[in-house]
Amino acid sequence: MSDATELRRRQAEFSKELHGDDIGSKTGVSAFLSKNRSAQKEAVTKYLKHWDGKVDKDAEDRRLEDYNESTHSYYNVVTDFYEYGWGSSFHFSRYYKGENFFAAMARHEHYLAYKAGIQKGDLVLDVGCGVGGPAREISRFTGCNIIGLNNNDYQIAKAKWYSKKYHLEDQLDFVKGDFMNMDFEPNTFDKVYAIEATCHAPSLEGVYGQIYKVLKPGGTFAVYEWVMTERYDESNPKHRKIAYEIEIGDGIPKMFHVDVAKQALTNVGFEVSVAQDLADNDDEVPWYYPLTGEWKYVQTLTDLGTFFRTSFFGRKFTSAMVSLMEKVGIAPEGSSKVTNALEEAAIGLVAGGREKLFTPMMLFVAKKPLDASD
Ligand SMILES: C[S@@+](CC[C@H](N)C(=O)[O-])C[C@H]1O[C@@H](n2cnc3c(N)ncnc32)[C@H](O)[C@@H]1O
Repeated sequence: MSDATELRRRQAEFSKELHGDDIGSKTGVSAFLSKNRSAQKEAVTKYLKHWDGKVDKDAEDRRLEDYNESTHSYYNVVTDFYEYGWGSSFHFSRYYKGENFFAAMARHEHYLAYKAGIQKGDLVLDVGCGVGGPAREISRFTGCNIIGLNNNDYQIAKAKWYSKKYHLEDQLDFVKGDFMNMDFEPNTFDKVYAIEATCHAPSLEGVYGQIYKVLKPGGTFAVYEWVMTERYDESNPKHRKIAYEIEIGDGIPKMFHVDVAKQALTNVGFEVSVAQDLADNDDEVPWYYPLTGEWKYVQTLTDLGTFFRTSFFGRKFTSAMVSLMEKVGIAPEGSSKVTNALEEAAIGLVAGGREKLFTPMMLFVAKKPLDASD
């Protein structure tokens, strides 16, 4: 058995042990409280194993090398928190004044589909598909067929469960795989998109190269990439601290500079037609507003619940409750470590957003040339 096959088998087995068999019937708090305790402790340890505050080359190399297991563990422990706080699409978005949170999320997804030129009947790959929120929206919006690729078994099971619930099984499929080593045949997909997922790759050239391979000649790849912007200076300790908070709290081995991403696309053969930071604008309502404690940004009454859960005070409340539940033995051991790491992420994301050192929506649209050999 190859190393990759063995890793897959172990991850699938561990996922069953941790989350149980009846994955679909529970979400958010109830899913979180029904985890197998010793497996949860192990997952938290695996995720935080490389996060010891160090940012030297050796520490970074260890994180890059273990990207698959460490990201797999990260999503094993945070998926319920994400669904509880954010819903079933795990990304940021821009907001019009007066626009409801979930409408803005859907618009962000529609915009990517539009930029990718996705049409009815296209076969599309969603790289790092989460629990399938964007795939459900984009397949309904365009009439395309989507395969979601993900290395997290729990999220795949959830995505499949939602497809069934919403009768989208004819248009959607979700498969287990590492985006650094895809199993699809070359030249399979008409379009490929990725939303805030490829930042988990140890090398952007690696993941973009795989995408290039599976895309048909003439096909388009559109991505919202997480990168550090032109203003970021890796040698500035304040900047590096912000990047580290984003890395630890979001399970990312290394946050790359925007130029690295741009160069990586070109290096693997893409023709880049759009490279635009959608966060670099004068929007009245900033993309990071749900993570702030600033009520003035709340757009509609229906957003109050989301804002309460995701804002500074809401997160403090959740962390305090989780800590209490852990102490009295209701929540699995290690849960507080997870909420603490998520808190670090939120601090880094807001600081990075305010100073425009970081963007979660660097939009690249890139084409595989029609005459590409592979
Ligand atoms: C922030 S979530 C975004 C999910 C989804 N795109 C969305 O917007 O809802 C990142 C996703 O990338 C997936 N991922 C991370 N590393 C991966 C890898 N090596 N191979 C495949 N998927 C991966 C995670 O499991 C997770 O589903």
